[in-house]
Amino acid sequence: MSFKEIAPENFEESVFKVIGKDWLLLAGTKDGKTNAMTASWGGMGIMWGKPVAFVFIRPQRYTKEFVDNSQGMTISVLEDPDHKVMSYFGRVSGRDEDKIAKSGLTKVEENGQVYFEEARIAMVCRKLYAQEMKPECFFDKESDAKWYPNKDYHTMYVMEIEKLLVKE
Ligand SMILES: Cc1cc2nc3c(=O)[nH]c(=O)nc-3n(C[C@H](O)[C@H](O)[C@H](O)COP(=O)(O)O)c2cc1C
Repeated sequence: MSFKEIAPENFEESVFKVIGKDWLLLAGTKDGKTNAMTASWGGMGIMWGKPVAFVFIRPQRYTKEFVDNSQGMTISVLEDPDHKVMSYFGRVSGRDEDKIAKSGLTKVEENGQVYFEEARIAMVCRKLYAQEMKPECFFDKESDAKWYPNKDYHTMYVMEIEKLLVKE
């Protein structure tokens, strides 16, 4: 099976399902090394006239070091109905294990970025904007209290989707 590039406006799947139910595998690459983590919060849309994906990464994630030290990241959506692989990438840190090697996923390298052969959707993204969330910006104080008892606020990354690939 091979990938086919499509225009973002021809993407027909529900982003609510893809992000919230299937989950995303975010991968950052720096100095030839790649790390990846699961994310189930984020979105896809249009910003500054470009097709974008936006994701949220907490400061303690090892993947953040990779994303902060490179031009972009990739987003892969795996064929993983029971969430076995995605749960692993969301439970274990790349600081402790080589998750990509242990999972058996196959890297596809493109312009210094890495996504995965096993994906059914893959996006190659370029960072446009990053901003750390701040407690004083919450109108909804309940969400602040519920999700950030340790004050480990996510950084939001807005990224241009340079290439959107789907499995043929
Ligand atoms: C379903 C699910 C969704 C997650 N979503 C996010 C997210 O959106 N942002 C985030 O920072 N961490 C999220 N995580 C947690 C990271 O995936 C997890 O801490 C991971 O082990 C980090 O790996 P790393 O240290 O190798 O980067 C999620 C975990 C799961 C299981």
